[in-house]
Amino acid sequence: MDKEEVEFYGEYTEILKYTEQEILKELNDILDELTEDPERSPYEHIISRIKSPESVRDKLRQKGFADDVLTGIIKLSDVIGIRIVTHFVGDIYLILSRLREHETWEIVKEKDYIARPKENGYRSYHVILKVPICREDDFAKFTDLPDSLNIEIQLRTIAMDCWAALEHQIRYKKDVKNTALIADELKRCADEMASTDLTMQTIRDVLMK
Ligand code: GTP
Ligand code: MG
Repeated sequence: MDKEEVEFYGEYTEILKYTEQEILKELNDILDELTEDPERSPYEHIISRIKSPESVRDKLRQKGFADDVLTGIIKLSDVIGIRIVTHFVGDIYLILSRLREHETWEIVKEKDYIARPKENGYRSYHVILKVPICREDDFAKFTDLPDSLNIEIQLRTIAMDCWAALEHQIRYKKDVKNTALIADELKRCADEMASTDLTMQTIRDVLMK
């Protein structure tokens, strides 16, 4: 976290970072257990981030809430956000099925942008997970915090991640001509990448038989 983030999150900085690390540890264990074959990892990489103060404030204001840190932690579901990038589409559903069986994490919301991509072509599977917040030892003093926190996990293939990263790079570009044409082309790229994802999955399934 940078200085601005530490200032904004204040006394909640440590408990958030701790919670994030605990979730990541648990996720890594879950993912490691999903396959016996060490050569066949069910994911390519995981990244996580704590939401920037600016984004927390913007979103709270949008929703008509006070824009302080505690309201953010309580009202937003992506103060902690994790992205799991997989090789194949099937891996996403394998991971999801395991998340559904978790003893202490509860899936409270799902958005399947793979079955139903966004209009611009964006694909990913988003889940909001309700996870317990550690209240032992040093963290017992946080009596104003609820017992659990909603976090967002995005699951996507390398191809979906590639498209999202490229689209993110150009989406803020102002004064573009031919917006409609560009939108069509971006959507076409997303559809082509989805088609490649399916072919790669099929090739893999044939090889693994
Ligand atoms: P926000 O979190 O405020 O965006 O609203 P939301 O929770 O209603 O949106 P949603 O769950 O659909 O998507 C949230 C996150 O998904 C964003 O912060 C991005 O990381 C990612 N995302 C969603 N749509 C797009 C998109 O069109 N392009 C890219 N690159 N990422 C997207
Ligand atoms: Mg969101």
